[in-house]
Amino acid sequence: MVRVTLNRPDVRNAFNEQVVAELTGWAENITQTTAGERARVAVLAGAGKTFCAGADLGWMSTMIDYSFDDNVRDAAAMAAMFDALDTLPIPLIGRVHGAALGGGSGLAAVCDIVVASDDATFGFTEAKLGILPAVISPYVVQKIGVSAARELFLTAARFPAVRAREIGLVHAVVPERELDAAIDGYVRELLTSAPGAMTGAKHLIAAVANGIPADLVDVTSETIARHRVAHEGQDGMRAFLEKRKPGWVE
Ligand code: COA
Repeated sequence: MVRVTLNRPDVRNAFNEQVVAELTGWAENITQTTAGERARVAVLAGAGKTFCAGADLGWMSTMIDYSFDDNVRDAAAMAAMFDALDTLPIPLIGRVHGAALGGGSGLAAVCDIVVASDDATFGFTEAKLGILPAVISPYVVQKIGVSAARELFLTAARFPAVRAREIGLVHAVVPERELDAAIDGYVRELLTSAPGAMTGAKHLIAAVANGIPADLVDVTSETIARHRVAHEGQDGMRAFLEKRKPGWVE
C-alpha cells in the first residue's frame, strides 16, 4: 500500500501549482511502473484539520495577471492532475476528514473508494466564489449524476458526509477515530482481489460508463477473453476449484 498526503495544513491543503505538479508526478510514476512492481493500493489523505480546501484561491486570483492562453495552460495542468488520478491503474482510496471543498470534492470524485468522517463537509462551492467547478465536472457528474450536480453546482451549498454518501461521492461514513481502521479494512479486502483484474475493472468501467459503446461486444467480450486466459485469471479460478489461495494473496 502506498499513501500520499496533501501537506499544506496552514491553507487547509489547498492545492497550488507545486502540489498539482507533484501529485501528477506521483500518479504518473505509479502508472508507468510495471504491474508486478508497483503498490497494489493507494490512499490519498490530507494533513492537519482537513482533507482539502480545493484550489488555492490565492494562486487562482493571481491568474488575472496572466494572458488567456496562460490561464488555459495553467488550468490544463490541473486537468492533467485529475486525469492522472482518475486513470490510476491501482485502487485509490480517499481518506476525507474535516472538509473536501471545491477541488477537494473533485479529488474525492476521482477516488475509487472514499471513506469520510461523519463530521466532514463537502461542497462544490465555486459558484459562491464567482467561478465554476469546470475541471472537476466530468468526474463529479459521472459520480453523482446530473440531478445532484444541478442542485449542488448551482446552490454551491456545503453538505455533510451522509449526503455525500447518498449521492455516491462517498462509500463509507465513520467517526473520525475509526477512519484509519475503516481504510485498513478496505485495503485488506482489495489485497485479496487480483491486481490485474482490478486494473481491468477500472478500464472496463471507464469504457462503459458513458452509455453503451458502439463496439460494446468487442470491448466486453475481448476484456473477459483476455482476463480468463491470463495467468492471473487461470490461477484465481483454479485456486477456487482447488480450495487454495491464489498466488496474489499473501
Ligand atoms: N485557498 C487558499 N487558502 C485557503 C483556502 C483555499 N481554498 N481555504 C482555506 N484557506 C486558508 C484561509 O485563508 C486561512 O488562511 P489565514 O490563516 O491566513 O487566514 C487558512 O487557510 C485557514 O482557513 P480557515 O477558514 O481559518 O480554517 P477553518 O479550519 O476554520 O476552515 C475550511 C477550513 C476549508 C472549511 C475553510 O477554510 C473554507 O471554507 N475554505 C474555502 C474552501 C473553498 O470554498 N474552496 C473552493 C476553492 S475552488
